[in-house]
Amino acid sequence: MKAEIGGEIKNIRAIWFENGKTVMIDQRKLPGELVICSFGDCASVAEAIRNMTTRGAPSIGAAAAYAMCMASLNGEDLDKAAETVRNARPTANDLFYAVDFMLSELRAGKDPVESADRYAQITVDKCRLIGKYGAGLIKNGMKIMTHCNAGALATVDVGTALAPMRQARDDGKDFFVYVSETRPRLQGMQLTAWELGQEGISHRIIPDGASAYYMSKGVDMIITGADRIASNGDFANKIGTFDKAIAAKYFGIPFYVAAPVSTFDFGTPSGDKIVIEERSETEVTEMNGRLIAPEGSHALNPAFDVTPASLVTGFITEKGILKPGEIQTVKE
Ligand code: MRU
Repeated sequence: MKAEIGGEIKNIRAIWFENGKTVMIDQRKLPGELVICSFGDCASVAEAIRNMTTRGAPSIGAAAAYAMCMASLNGEDLDKAAETVRNARPTANDLFYAVDFMLSELRAGKDPVESADRYAQITVDKCRLIGKYGAGLIKNGMKIMTHCNAGALATVDVGTALAPMRQARDDGKDFFVYVSETRPRLQGMQLTAWELGQEGISHRIIPDGASAYYMSKGVDMIITGADRIASNGDFANKIGTFDKAIAAKYFGIPFYVAAPVSTFDFGTPSGDKIVIEERSETEVTEMNGRLIAPEGSHALNPAFDVTPASLVTGFITEKGILKPGEIQTVKE
C-alpha cells in the first residue's frame, strides 16, 4: 500500500518479518501517526492480534502465521503456541486457517520464516486476483459503498473489498466511494478513508446511520469484506454490515462480499453457528479514555454481525465471482 513516510510516498505492507521479529503497522495509531512496531515472541504477536494493533481477517491470518513462526524459532511447544494464537480472537477464520497451515509446514520440517513469508505472499497474491475479478464490476461514474476496513491494512497488502477499487483506478475508471465510519472502533473513517486518500480515490466518510439515506439517493454497489463465511454463504463481518445488506435489498442495490477462500469455513454449516466476539463496553461508552455515557448505563459491543446468504449478490474470491449457491465449488 502507498503511505506517506517523512514526506515521501513509499510502498509498505501491513505486516512482515525482519531481523528475527514480526513487524507491523500499529493500526490503532492511524491516521494521526504511522507507527511501526515489532515483536520477538509468539505471545506478544498473539497479544497484538487481541488488542487490534493488527486487525482484519487476512492480516490476522498473516500475524498468526508469524506468531507460529516465532514460536518455532524460539523452540516453544507448538501445540501450546497454537492454543495461545487461536485464543487471540474468535471470529476471523483466517486466524485458524493460518495456524493449521503453519502446524502442517512446521511438522513437515519446513523453514518457519520461509513458510510464514509464503503464507503472507499467498494472501497478497489472492487479493490481487480478487482485485482483477472485482474490478470488472466497477463502471465509470459508479457510486460504491463500503464498511469497516477491508483494505491493504486488513490483508497484508492490496485489500479484499478495496482491491477491486485499486484495480479499477489503475484501469483508468472514475468512481466514488462512500465510507461508513464503523463505530465504535472507526475502521472506516480512520483506516479505509486513509487508504483511499493515499491512493487518490475519491471518497466521503459518512456516519454509519446515514447509509440507507445515501442508498436512497443512488448507490450502485456495496462491497464489504468478511471475517468468516459459513458453508451456506451466511457471513460474519464488522457490526453494521447486516443493516447495510438489508437496506441494499430494499433499494435493489447489488451487495458483494470480497474475501479469499481462507475466509470460508466449510465446517460451519450456517451463520448462527459462527462465534461472535463481544468486546469491552468501554469501546462504546468511552472516548479517548473519558466516559461519554451516563454513569451507570452499560453498553453491549458485539464486534461482528451475521448477514444471511440470501442478501448477498456474489462473493468476489481469488477463484472468481461466485453466487451464494456456488461456494461449495471452491472447497479445498
Ligand atoms: O474487528 P476488525 O477490525 O478485525 O474487523 C475487521 C472486519 O470486519 C473486516 O471488514 C473484515 O475482517 C474483512 S477484512 C479484509
